[in-house]
Amino acid sequence: MSRTHFYGTLVGKKVVVAVSGVILFGFLLGHMTGNIKVFLGDEANGVPKIDVYGYFLRTMGEPIFSYGQMLWIVRIVLITALLAHVVTVILLAVHNRNARPVRYAQTKRIAATPSARFMMWSGLFILAFVIFHILHLTTGSLDPKHFVQDRVYGNLYRAFHNGGFVVIYVTAMVFLALHLYHGIWSLFQTLGLDNPDRNKRLRMFAALATLALLLGFASVPLGMFLGDMPEPPNPANLPPPYGGR
Ligand code: HEM
Repeated sequence: MSRTHFYGTLVGKKVVVAVSGVILFGFLLGHMTGNIKVFLGDEANGVPKIDVYGYFLRTMGEPIFSYGQMLWIVRIVLITALLAHVVTVILLAVHNRNARPVRYAQTKRIAATPSARFMMWSGLFILAFVIFHILHLTTGSLDPKHFVQDRVYGNLYRAFHNGGFVVIYVTAMVFLALHLYHGIWSLFQTLGLDNPDRNKRLRMFAALATLALLLGFASVPLGMFLGDMPEPPNPANLPPPYGGR
């Protein structure tokens, strides 16, 4: 079977949705566990553990890959997974609607259920958040006065001593959790895994997985804002490659 033919089948699309969904979910899990390193303090040399982690992300794969190259490969995989996931979910939704035995023949506009509408709007909101977030904490272009390249702990410390950013991030995380809860659950249905004997456990899995992500992600802005987190170290006192700037 050719690859295009495989994607053309219903099973092929379901496999694409499931595999890309697992990649995206894995990214979120990894990103959340990486973020909570802000609470782990500093290495013996005084460098915040989360800065060491950020440095690792840029240097992973060396010496086979040069600085940042492996990170770009990961980014390309994630963007591909995101595009494949969104496009295929939409194609499957259209297929399911067309396969419905009783169609809304009299309605001119396509009738979307409230949850489908919620998924669309929350998905767009999350997409907007990701763009905002990259401009804020990766490129620093949104708030350059409080951003220093590669100083992850300091950037988070300064960002989340601003209540406005805390509200934006925590709100986005609540939408993300609701979107994921619904997404994981309907993915199980799309894949045909749902069954009255298992549904309770599947729903419980979706709820616990999204709750863990919500709490883990939200703990960083809330912890920085409400907790008594130490101030970022002075880069001049840090060893290379972290110090001296
Ligand atoms: C409170 C929640 C979050 C915090 C505190 C946070 C923090 C950060 C930080 C500090 C960076 C820069 C890391 C570095 O430069 O080494 C980053 C990058 C990034 N974050 Fe988040 N993040 C959060 C939630 C999310 C969510 C929910 C998503 C996706 C839906 C996301 C997607 C990304 C992406 C795509 C990058 C860019 C990675 C790269 O290409 O370098 N983040 N985040």
